[in-house]
Amino acid sequence: MTVLTINKLTSSVGAEVIGLDSDRLVADDAMGAAVLEALEDNGVLVFPQLHLDPQAQVEFCRRLGEVDHSSDGHHPVAGIYPVTLDKSKNASAAYLRATFDWHIDGCTPTNDEYPQKATLLSARQVAERGGETEFASSYGAYDTLTEDEKERLSSLRVVHSLEASQRRITPDPSPELLARWRARPTHEHPLVWTHRNGRRSLVLGASADYVVGMDLEDGRALLAELLDRATTAEKVYRHSWSVGDTVIWDNRGVLHRAAPYDPDSPREMLRTTVLGDEPIQ
Ligand code: OGA
Ligand code: MN
Repeated sequence: MTVLTINKLTSSVGAEVIGLDSDRLVADDAMGAAVLEALEDNGVLVFPQLHLDPQAQVEFCRRLGEVDHSSDGHHPVAGIYPVTLDKSKNASAAYLRATFDWHIDGCTPTNDEYPQKATLLSARQVAERGGETEFASSYGAYDTLTEDEKERLSSLRVVHSLEASQRRITPDPSPELLARWRARPTHEHPLVWTHRNGRRSLVLGASADYVVGMDLEDGRALLAELLDRATTAEKVYRHSWSVGDTVIWDNRGVLHRAAPYDPDSPREMLRTTVLGDEPIQ
């Protein structure tokens, strides 16, 4: 018997898992491997109306790998981080406006951690308007390049920084804020990530600052063009949230962003991330 029943949501990214309740997700020993496999195949898994409680969410994530505790302290349950623009629910809310730009979680870690294997969000409160989460395949971004481009891009390296992603939403930082951004080390990654599974993807998004050894503006124009091509509307799965939905994505193979929503909206997602075990290489 197959463990999961899934429906693909677009031809390139996203699948919906149906007929599953939260008790089974947490209790069934076969679930971890089945979800990881489906995640690798589809990039994003949607579990509509799962109503997973925070404890169960962390327990389930433990089946997928080691749970990230580096953002603990913003929610009573260890392993849960509230994603919201409401500062009363999360003191670091201001940084989260950067989620409005396409990105890959974990490209600018505090130390040298690998990108999170999986990020999971469960909707606690949704925005009245906007606030969908959009996904595009970064494997697809590579696969749809011409052979010439694959060759030309194969040796390029890109510097990623927290400053690059924050500047897009806060172009005029105070010296103190800039110093805080710069306290986070920058990271140089190859543009083309060759994965353990043999697939290749493009490492793009808001944290990508410049291409090493290339004219600054030319390099930025190239990154912007590749990102535009990877995220055209027909390549995107857009999740419109209902309270109780859970969505998981694989940062090795997808780019994502939040669609804009009112900064005063009560929108709140409970987030758990699973540590990665594969470097960008
Ligand atoms: C994240 C993120 C998008 C959203 O939590 O990493 O990018 O829609 N969230 O809130
Ligand atoms: Mn993110």
